[in-house]
Amino acid sequence: MGNKAKIIDLPKILDKRGNLSIIEEFKNIPFKIKRTYWIYDVPGGEARGGHAYKENQEFIVALSGSFDVVLDDGREKKTFHMNRSYYGLYVPKGLWREMNNFSTNSLALILASTPYNADDYIYDYLEFKKMIDNG
Ligand code: TYD
Repeated sequence: MGNKAKIIDLPKILDKRGNLSIIEEFKNIPFKIKRTYWIYDVPGGEARGGHAYKENQEFIVALSGSFDVVLDDGREKKTFHMNRSYYGLYVPKGLWREMNNFSTNSLALILASTPYNADDYIYDYLEFKKMIDNG
């Protein structure tokens, strides 16, 4: 998978009172956090995403339950199964992504490197391929 998409293990403070994990910008993830959103109450069989970002980078954590993130760099697709809250998936800019296979009561936390900007989205796969092919 091009562009350094990768699973990042987060610090895990194990405690008999309950565990705790941490994300600090530039320490655990390689960008400054400008926005946070979360996806929840996903009905069975639904998919989210189905787009790419021109600039936005993201870090995705399964805070509860499980789901898959499918990344596509225009040449190959890779599926990351997310089912623990002590690791996350770093998604660089310029990758097509989809999220699917959500379990009941799953909760996806997403940290983003830019404020919301509708113009940053590419919703057309052919346009995405063109961007990749033009470097
Ligand atoms: P979208 O990013 O397409 O969701 P997903 O990739 O999970 O399928 O966003 C869905 C809607 O929510 C869309 O109308 C834009 C809006 N939205 C915001 O207003 N701000 C945000 O930060 C995000 C992520 C989405």
